[in-house]
Amino acid sequence: MRIYKAKDYNEMSRKAASIIASQVTLKPNCVLGLATGSSPIGTYKNLVEWYNQGDLDFSQVTTVNLDEYKGLPRDNDQSYYYFMNEHLFSKVNINKERTFLPDGTEADSDAACKKYNETIHSVGGVDLQLLGIGHNGHIGFNEPSDSFEKETHCVTLSERTIQANTRFFASEKDVPRQAYTMGIQTIMAARKILLVVSGEDKAAAVNAAFFGPVTPQVPGSILQFHKNVILVADEAALSQCPKSI
Ligand code: F6R
Repeated sequence: MRIYKAKDYNEMSRKAASIIASQVTLKPNCVLGLATGSSPIGTYKNLVEWYNQGDLDFSQVTTVNLDEYKGLPRDNDQSYYYFMNEHLFSKVNINKERTFLPDGTEADSDAACKKYNETIHSVGGVDLQLLGIGHNGHIGFNEPSDSFEKETHCVTLSERTIQANTRFFASEKDVPRQAYTMGIQTIMAARKILLVVSGEDKAAAVNAAFFGPVTPQVPGSILQFHKNVILVADEAALSQCPKSI
């Protein structure tokens, strides 16, 4: 694992964006695994800026997102498709037909998950997977549990995740209770993983995931077994990690 210590959110975002930009430059037809949430917004902002300056070309890039709320259509402003469109897809020259997320409107969970697994296989797997991490150590919507789920599956969100995501909705009752998410095996199959994390409120999760025991109770801890993980975190997020890093 490589760790880049950034002084704050902005520096974290620039560093993460530069890693993604290198990937796109070195392999223009790469497959990027993407995440939503607060952590990667600054990263996307930098990518859009560099695209506008003529330094990046997304025309051959394919993307597969980690997750989508079950029940939300694409035009719902809280859907992850909407988020991706808002922060990246509509702002760069990516071919929208090559941007994939689980289909939140598919009520049949098995069908939705099967189709998304097929999509990920058909694009040849993920070259670089961008991740954030939840306060409880979740990655994607893989919540703490007794075992690691392998491929795309339907999850019932934990109370903690519902609380954390309430900030994006009018009220807690509007937060969808279920989501489709890539599984741990799929995330681990990515050739490179880039995790961005910022803020003191994430410090315990970062320490547990990267320096604690590997356990499905802290889903992000599985990343210790991946041979090409880059953690880009600000000082606050690293504040509970061993002093030696
Ligand atoms: C988002 C995702 C989640 C978030 C995590 C952190 O697609 O899969 O695992 O990365 O909940 O969210 P933020 O960045 O909002 O703190």
